[in-house]
Amino acid sequence: MRIGIVGAGAMAWALGGGWAAAGHEIRVGTRSPERAAELAARIGHGARAGSIRAAAEFGEAVLLAVPVAALDAVLAETGALAGRTVIDCTNAFQPDEGGFVLSEPAVAERISAARPGAKVVKAFNLCAAEVWASGQPREFDGRPLSVPLCGDDGDAVDLVARLAADLGVRPFRAGGLRRARYLEATAAFIVGLWFAGDDARAMFPPVTAAFAHPDGI
Ligand SMILES: NC(=O)c1ccc[n+]([C@@H]2O[C@H](COP(=O)([O-])OP(=O)(O)OC[C@H]3O[C@@H](n4cnc5c(N)ncnc54)[C@H](OP(=O)(O)O)[C@@H]3O)[C@@H](O)[C@H]2O)c1
Repeated sequence: MRIGIVGAGAMAWALGGGWAAAGHEIRVGTRSPERAAELAARIGHGARAGSIRAAAEFGEAVLLAVPVAALDAVLAETGALAGRTVIDCTNAFQPDEGGFVLSEPAVAERISAARPGAKVVKAFNLCAAEVWASGQPREFDGRPLSVPLCGDDGDAVDLVARLAADLGVRPFRAGGLRRARYLEATAAFIVGLWFAGDDARAMFPPVTAAFAHPDGI
């Protein structure tokens, strides 16, 4: 698959590197041609560099891997993104009392409203870039790492599910784009716990123990 990656930082490297290794064609685009070329060279596997517009037009799927504060400027460069699957991995974190709150409540929905022809899927925002990078263990305590996906277009969600599987993680469909705001809030909450050294998984029992009555499942 042709994947355009907008941004040349940690997430662009982690996700783009894994997809390139899985055989996908990668075009990196960012505001600095040098940074885009550096990342394309680091990704290897024939990855190429270009402008933000070139990456957006290249990709059947387009990953937005930039700070939320840069989105308006970046979307002005990408063009319409009509018909493309747009993967939004962003987090609108704002420091707060040692953790984070959101600087805005619903980034994925904002992207979708700004680019109505695009098929936006929220994904990969819950874990750090290091976790997504290829070569990392993706199974913890015997359970595969799962990636919730939120999007309104079923084909686009299926496409991102295949891309998640190509990274060695287990995708699951977590509802429409209106639920992406919960993934964004979850990231702000959980990452704050991780920064404090708390084990977020300890809050959540397995599904078989999640309800008092078996018919609650
Ligand atoms: N890092 C993580 O562990 C992680 C995990 C989950 C989600 N995320 C989210 O993923 C997104 C990317 O994070 P990251 O860690 O990859 O960021 P990063 O390493 O700081 O890289 C950000 C990229 O965005 C580009 N950029 C910044 N401002 C721009 C602007 N105004 N116009 C065009 N390009 C601009 C930067 O270009 P320059 O190189 O020219 O500065 C850089 O290539 C963020 O929304 C973040 O919240 C990150």
